[in-house]
Amino acid sequence: MLCLARPAVRPYSSLTMTDARFPHRHLLGIQGLGPSEITSLLDLAEGYVEQNRSNDKRKNLLRGRTIVNLFFENSTRTRTSFELAGKRLGADVINMQSAGSSVQKGETLIDTAMTLNAMHLDVLVVRHPDSGAVKLLSEKVNCAVINGGDGSHEHPTQALLDALTIRRRKGKLSGLNVAICGDVRHSRVARSNIYLLNAMGASVRLIGPRTLLPSGLDRMGVEVFHDMKKGLADVDVIMMLRIQNERMSGNFIPSIREYFHFFGLDREKLGLAKPDAVIMHPGPMNRGVEIDSDVADDVERSLIRSQVEMGVAVRMACLDMLTRGLIQSEGES
Ligand code: NCD
Repeated sequence: MLCLARPAVRPYSSLTMTDARFPHRHLLGIQGLGPSEITSLLDLAEGYVEQNRSNDKRKNLLRGRTIVNLFFENSTRTRTSFELAGKRLGADVINMQSAGSSVQKGETLIDTAMTLNAMHLDVLVVRHPDSGAVKLLSEKVNCAVINGGDGSHEHPTQALLDALTIRRRKGKLSGLNVAICGDVRHSRVARSNIYLLNAMGASVRLIGPRTLLPSGLDRMGVEVFHDMKKGLADVDVIMMLRIQNERMSGNFIPSIREYFHFFGLDREKLGLAKPDAVIMHPGPMNRGVEIDSDVADDVERSLIRSQVEMGVAVRMACLDMLTRGLIQSEGES
């Protein structure tokens, strides 16, 4: 059995309104959030991890509130965990897919916003294939908006759940070497993680073929490597990313076989990192493409299942925080 290092975190019940600093109306991205805001969300989520592990998983904190999950792209983990998070806090949760909604019939994003406003929602969770679409919607609706992933821009709740997973295992974020490997070009998960890890004092390296690491990334305060052997040396955390075929136009990799040979994480490449380095993946995984099953399913080293568990707790914390009435400035995002 693994012994998880735990940070010294006060139980949720002792976090008061003044402790929890999150003066934002929406959660659109990690960019612009400070370390104390990120820490407040993570500390709040710790309490929800305990609640989710107990027999009494449901609280009435959000009784009477309405949450809509509006997903214009496929999702398993994110949509389900937001649904579970809302229900465990006692809210009414409705899922809307773009297939089957009026969006398919040509309704614009603005018309959709007007319709949602008339329904008096409290929180809207949106996933959209276009970067910036969630922000646009947030400017038109009367409720709090959470970005469930917009194009290749940001996926803030994924970065928060990754941070919680790392913090629980390593006891800290600051000072860690984190490698984000693979299709960074198309990854909103990578961008949100870069912002968060930098804000919290971790060192971030990006590893991948040149075609999947666009130029200019070094301006984000990261180190860039094109060779796993060099990039993984001395690393504490390895985050693998899926090849996002749906966002690619053209060929970015010569063949799956070659990609796996050079950039797929297997036992041999894992051996290049620190002996206690952990493996993460936001899912869905392409086994045999960016990661070998042998390491993905290694219960000692892989945190992939823990990431899913932390996803529910983090989303509960985000729903809780945005509905607390801590809005200090209406214009702020
Ligand atoms: C990620 C996403 O949708 O951006 N998945 C997720 O939210 N768990 C990563 C991916 O699709 O590869």
